[in-house]
Amino acid sequence: MDEIEVERLIKISRERPLDPTTFIPWQLEPAAGDIFLPEFLTSLHGLEIYNTLTPAQKSELARHELVQVIASYAWGECLFCLFMTRHILTLPLDNIEHRFLLRELIEEFKHQEMFGQAIAKLGGQPVPQSGLHKFLGMFSNKYLPADYLFMGSVSVELVTDVYGTHARKAEHIYPVLKKMFDLHTIEEARHIIFTKSLLKTYAAKAGYIKRTLYSYVILGNILFVRTMYVKKEIYQRIGLENPDKVFKLAAKNFKQKFREKCLTDIVEFVDSWGGFNRATRWAWRWILGVKA
Ligand SMILES: [Fe+2]
Ligand SMILES: [Fe+2]
Repeated sequence: MDEIEVERLIKISRERPLDPTTFIPWQLEPAAGDIFLPEFLTSLHGLEIYNTLTPAQKSELARHELVQVIASYAWGECLFCLFMTRHILTLPLDNIEHRFLLRELIEEFKHQEMFGQAIAKLGGQPVPQSGLHKFLGMFSNKYLPADYLFMGSVSVELVTDVYGTHARKAEHIYPVLKKMFDLHTIEEARHIIFTKSLLKTYAAKAGYIKRTLYSYVILGNILFVRTMYVKKEIYQRIGLENPDKVFKLAAKNFKQKFREKCLTDIVEFVDSWGGFNRATRWAWRWILGVKA
């Protein structure tokens, strides 16, 4: 791990903290014409059915799906905080990793509160995680060793960061969401630099089997995130007939969008330490559809 770099990150986090309560213009209500998510990130855009929706239905679809995305972030970050809290107990207080993770914990708790506030502002009702998501989330959090959990976290952070960047750069995005994603991108950038630096050490020591396992942990995490956003209940809420059928089409459509828009960085990262090999490449191609 590059200690000078990590000291620099700790210093920025301490000296230039961003406070969501003042950084975000919470007093602003969405104006006519404001959007909640770029159209191309919604699960139905690109399908024939999307063209049959009224403007109000399109806007509601984006609002519900955005709420689902940030509720998933908040839940995932809460799980990761649980792990970090346990992990720092194994490290002395003056250890650099311990000190960085304290900053990360402070920031992640702030993010969760910010996401919750944004959901309330949007009048959102997040659909709860499925039983399988809950089980996998809790199980891996409790039983996987630290290096695997950091691999999982960096993959989720890289993917969500790309998603946030698409959203905050979209024209006419509701200013509350723009500033929320701005703040998140700035702080997550530090977490990503730290975790990548930490993982370089782990990956350098890893042989074929471990690299294969790391690769699968990342793939599993991406699949986990991807399947948290598209929800049948949302199609019911916006008044679509046959939500089951719509869900099937949307899941397939979203898989393709997700691959095209969100996976470039993570594929590059996995490739950088040799995570694609004979045992993993087929799974990345088949399950995520990427050219690994
Ligand atoms: Fe975060
Ligand atoms: Fe983070």
